[in-house]
Amino acid sequence: MATRRKSVRTQAATKNRSSNSGRRRPAAESNPEFERYCRATFDPRAAFGKPEALKGMRVLSCSQYILGPSCAAYLGELGAEVIKIEAPRRGEPMRHSTPGNEAFLYPLSRWVPGSGTGLGFFGANFNEYFISLDFHRPEARELMCRLAAKADVVVENFRPGTFDRWGIGYRQLREINPRLIYMWLGGFGGWGPGRVRASYDILGQAQGGAFSITGQPEEAGGAPSKHTIWLADYWGGMMGALQVLTALYWRDNVSGEGTFLEYSQVHGVTRQLEYSLPLYGREGVIRERWGNWDTELCVHGIIKCGRPSYPRSDNPQEEEEGYILVSAYEDVDFGMLCRAVGHAQLARLYKTHDIRVRPESQKEIYAALEAWAKDKTKEQVARILDQAGIIVQPVWNAKEVANHPHWQQRGSIFWLDDPTYGDVLSQGPAYKMSATPPRVKWAFKPVGADNEFIYSKLCGLSKAEMEKLEAEEVI
Ligand SMILES: CC(C)(COP(=O)(O)OP(=O)(O)OC[C@H]1O[C@@H](n2cnc3c(N)ncnc32)[C@H](O)[C@@H]1OP(=O)(O)O)[C@@H](O)C(=O)NCCC(=O)NCCS
Repeated sequence: MATRRKSVRTQAATKNRSSNSGRRRPAAESNPEFERYCRATFDPRAAFGKPEALKGMRVLSCSQYILGPSCAAYLGELGAEVIKIEAPRRGEPMRHSTPGNEAFLYPLSRWVPGSGTGLGFFGANFNEYFISLDFHRPEARELMCRLAAKADVVVENFRPGTFDRWGIGYRQLREINPRLIYMWLGGFGGWGPGRVRASYDILGQAQGGAFSITGQPEEAGGAPSKHTIWLADYWGGMMGALQVLTALYWRDNVSGEGTFLEYSQVHGVTRQLEYSLPLYGREGVIRERWGNWDTELCVHGIIKCGRPSYPRSDNPQEEEEGYILVSAYEDVDFGMLCRAVGHAQLARLYKTHDIRVRPESQKEIYAALEAWAKDKTKEQVARILDQAGIIVQPVWNAKEVANHPHWQQRGSIFWLDDPTYGDVLSQGPAYKMSATPPRVKWAFKPVGADNEFIYSKLCGLSKAEMEKLEAEEVI
């Protein structure tokens, strides 16, 4: 390993990690009254009887894939009336980008009866009304202006300037509605070198700097690794929702005016790079990948347990060996861990954190832990180490999470009785609000499902006018 690389961890180790102040505190049951209070205050079964914080706020979501859609959906979970506008008949590309799009499961639209919506669409379009509109058509501009006149917010995530070119960007719509808040989420922003390239979550993570520090190091045969979930998109959507709420506060309490908001997916990834940038700026050191271990803390990583938990499962995913997170980086905890796994000599050898965190120390320590766990399941390892007072957590899959009472009781996972699609096992908002809780009312709908309702309500179109626009594929 290059000296430069070594220095990263040596530097980290010089931080004061050897104090024993981080010992585990007694479990939360020590305050049952508080638990009872939280259970009653945030009871998910009571959510639908409470008011919605953003009721009365109208959002036009001209969005595709996950970045823009999730931004609008977060507002929809809080009660905003979100109207998703898609290309007529086929809808936005996310409906076609993932498997699970059998027509009988999640029908796409009444115009394309043989197609369905892929499951990747799920979770990013909760509680929305779905209308269709072909932005290329002259009639679309007129309709979009009428909709924008009655909206608080537009969310869009097309290429820079596409909506402006179509005559329905911020510059044009603000003439119709000066109070409009226009949230544009893009790849690289509206100006600067490279701004016109297309961007996706994976590109954002690659260019923003996340992949280079994710995955196994080269010396372990590893390469930069992508995240399975679309972190840059869902995080970006959340940041967009934060921008919208801030602009709403500014409009309603300070200026009376709408605003133009921009979010860069790539720069959003860079924003999360923690100390990588100051480390480079001050020391010239490029932060490295360290796989399932941690460059700064040891032990603080994932180890392999040799025995699968469900060897006879029908699901191949469950036949593999288990993995478990072990965290014992304080000197005292590390000593306890070593004794629990029968390697007391390691505690003597690697007594202090700055010695433990070195690459060669970590290799020996983790190898010893995995050798000890070789004949055990992740549950057995968890039991033994938990009894020894060590922080552990088996690595769980979707099935294990879905069936756990903690998620179920808190409403974080629930069976949604969807009006269009029937029972759908769904994740819900991760946060709670006592007076105005977020909620999921429906998962999504087919393309153009609410054309009649929305175009008559907001644009005053008659049935005959809508039929004509439909026949001409404007809507
Ligand atoms: C996602 C992305 C790569 C798609 O790029 P693109 O389709 O080549 O270009 P635009 O975004 O300008 O979209 C224009 C196209 O949208 C399509 N479109 C989608 N909805 C439409 C509608 N309602 N009406 C008309 N056209 C529509 C058309 O095909 C149009 O192309 P055309 O004018 O050449 O016919 C690009 O929008 C982008 O980089 N967005 C920012 C980053 C992002 O959000 N990425 C996706 C999340 S990972």
